[in-house]
Amino acid sequence: MGLVGLKVLLLLLLGANQGSFTKKKHLQSVCGRPVYSGRIVGGQSAAWGRWPWQVSLRFDHTHTCGGSLISDHWVLTAAHCIKKTWYNLLYSVWLGSIDKESSSTGEEYYVSRIVIPDKHRHTDGDIALLKLSSRVTFTPVILPICLPNISKQLTAPAFCWVTGWGETQEGHYPSTLQEAEIPIITSEACEHLYNPIGIFLPDIERVIKEDMLCAGDSQARKDSCKGDSGGPLSCHVDGVWTQIGVVSWGVECGKDLPGVYTNVTYYQKWISAIISRAPGWGGDCTHMTSCSLLYYFLWLSWDPLEPLALA
Ligand SMILES: *[C@@H]1O[C@H](CO)[C@@H](O)[C@H](O)[C@H]1NC(C)=O
Ligand SMILES: *[C@@H]1O[C@H](CO)[C@@H](O)[C@H](O)[C@H]1NC(C)=O
Repeated sequence: MGLVGLKVLLLLLLGANQGSFTKKKHLQSVCGRPVYSGRIVGGQSAAWGRWPWQVSLRFDHTHTCGGSLISDHWVLTAAHCIKKTWYNLLYSVWLGSIDKESSSTGEEYYVSRIVIPDKHRHTDGDIALLKLSSRVTFTPVILPICLPNISKQLTAPAFCWVTGWGETQEGHYPSTLQEAEIPIITSEACEHLYNPIGIFLPDIERVIKEDMLCAGDSQARKDSCKGDSGGPLSCHVDGVWTQIGVVSWGVECGKDLPGVYTNVTYYQKWISAIISRAPGWGGDCTHMTSCSLLYYFLWLSWDPLEPLALA
């Protein structure tokens, strides 16, 4: 049996498409609506359940980046967080916890597949989709965030929220999830800040590429920083929380330059294509050992060499 035959057999065995339409509709009615509804008091530590889509991405059980749950099988993060696409079984995500150190409150899920878009001249492609090896059970503290509606132009609000376990002071990493409300900055203004001589040199390559957006408050010194990478920029739009950005990069956190995010709207079609194309295999195995044989065959038959787009 050739690889194609093996692929078909696996699909038949594992039940390929499980009513993706109804699933999608269901997703739209649960995403972006946290059950938590208290007020944020003073400090910047987040309350449990306020950002139920926040994930901690771990490599070999060590926190490396943030990420966000966008459905019961998929997590969004930044491509630069993924060093080794081949070792996807060493990646896991923690859900349902605001405490980075304690694993008693959260749920761990393994990553079965990693997808990264190609880079182009005008884009950086700092976005990655992680498929989880088992279906996530939604709870009041584990819920997906909505993505921008593909058929409707999104007017992002003036302010959105960034969350993460990244550096808060030089060398200090908090164990409790941090949150900050920050203004969105136009790409033009952001380009001027990062590349002040750019206006005199129209042919020079832009620093703020087509697929990036900027946000941050240099006055109040609110910004994302090292370790926040991959986490969501969450905006409250029409009563639901929608993710418009993925923490990507910056220069000197909380100083004069805003943080740069991957524009999720720019990748909306790419995300939908991958999520809806992905068959239901990999289904519901929860233990690495029982899954590994399956993954081995999938790895042989499916897309064994996914090139890593980022250097
Ligand atoms: C997206 O926007 C269109 C046009 O406004 C609307 O008809 C549709 O219901 C929206 N879809 C979702 C999933 O909210
Ligand atoms: C994000 O990308 C979309 C689609 O390309 C674009 O319409 C939108 O203006 C961008 N958002 C920002 C804040 O730059």
